Amino acid sequence: MNEQSGAGAALQTNFTRAAGLSHAPMPLAPYRSAAFFELERAQIFERAWLMLARVEELAAPGDFVVKSVPTCGKSIIISHGKDGGIRAFHNSCSHRGSEVVSLRAGHAARFVCPYHRWTYGTEGQLLGVPDEASFFDIDKKTCGLKPVACEVWEGWVFINLQREPEVSLAAFLGPFAAHLQGLHYQAADHPVVLSATLEANWKVVADAFIETYHIPVIHPQTIGTTFSSRANPFARLIDATILGAHRAVSMYGNPDFRFDETHFVHNIAYSAAATGSVIAAATKEGAVNFLDHPAVNPVRSGSWSMDVNHLFPHTHIDCGPGGFWTHQFWPVAPNRCHYEVRFYVPKAESAHERFQQELYIGRVVEIVLEDLSNVARTQRGIDGGGQEFMQLQDSEIGIRHALEQVMKWVEAPTVAQALA
Ligand code: FES
Ligand SMILES: [Fe+2]
Repeated sequence: MNEQSGAGAALQTNFTRAAGLSHAPMPLAPYRSAAFFELERAQIFERAWLMLARVEELAAPGDFVVKSVPTCGKSIIISHGKDGGIRAFHNSCSHRGSEVVSLRAGHAARFVCPYHRWTYGTEGQLLGVPDEASFFDIDKKTCGLKPVACEVWEGWVFINLQREPEVSLAAFLGPFAAHLQGLHYQAADHPVVLSATLEANWKVVADAFIETYHIPVIHPQTIGTTFSSRANPFARLIDATILGAHRAVSMYGNPDFRFDETHFVHNIAYSAAATGSVIAAATKEGAVNFLDHPAVNPVRSGSWSMDVNHLFPHTHIDCGPGGFWTHQFWPVAPNRCHYEVRFYVPKAESAHERFQQELYIGRVVEIVLEDLSNVARTQRGIDGGGQEFMQLQDSEIGIRHALEQVMKWVEAPTVAQALA
């Protein structure tokens, strides 16, 4: 809570010291070491609760989605059962192991394996075995789809790959749950999804989206003048909060930014719907319930652009003036990751709204591509081995805390100890 604004007043911050974190240089080995990557897979991704979906993706009984967990080589069916429950299963047949569902999403009364047509209910139970008489004492009750631990929090569907999760989802979320409790996720049923495989460690990409130091340098044409100003030329953060294994930061927004009134396209797009922000998909009126939440612009700053809520290990839930979006970073190799961003935008109800949203999507994709254009270069520099440490400044607190948590989980013999 150490925001200052106004022309000429340099914005001073002290987040790292105030949070009790170290100021020491942080190691680069976790960004390139094959051994560390294997430990991350085993100690983090095979032990942590992993956010995989939103409930809106499977709103009705019979709806399902199939999600891959590329870090662990898993395909997971999330099924909204006829009984109303939401469950997760390994996408593997009890007969000879084939993937059962090939679609990424759909609605089904039952799942039928494409190999020999074993059939499963939406609650995972084995329903039918063709030519059952030729099998030997088959116990159909034990031959359902193999369940994966699954819990839902605030519309987010999580799985845990431990057969018996060491801690509950609530214990894993800790203070992060209270921070975002009750947030109204507007337009949650309508994501615009972009994904890519990137030649960079997953943390390189996650780091790029939680620090603001790069913004005037990497984004001069897009958000350079909205996320920084003469009063805050280096785009210093306006807030940072440690939330157990998780964290949240709030980014500065230039209160004096105005769209160029001579910009014909912007004038058409924003004349009726402007939130005044370059990264908004909704109207101010439409975002009221969302913006009222205490975790959205938590310091109630007049110089705010957006929040990044980093849900350990690999998900960002971002909030801006017009709604929310998510990034996910799945490690697949020490220097490669799978990246997905989902921008949630209201369904357009007029040609004007559609035009405004298309402009929004075009603009945010441009910003994301500016970030992604930098990650392979960063990784190559790290892989070269000339540097052992990163020097992190105060607005890079999210990177420091994230890496501290990763290193803690990798070393902790139990999840309880990782969370302690
Ligand atoms: S592998 Fe699924 S029915 Fe044979
Ligand atoms: Fe960026």
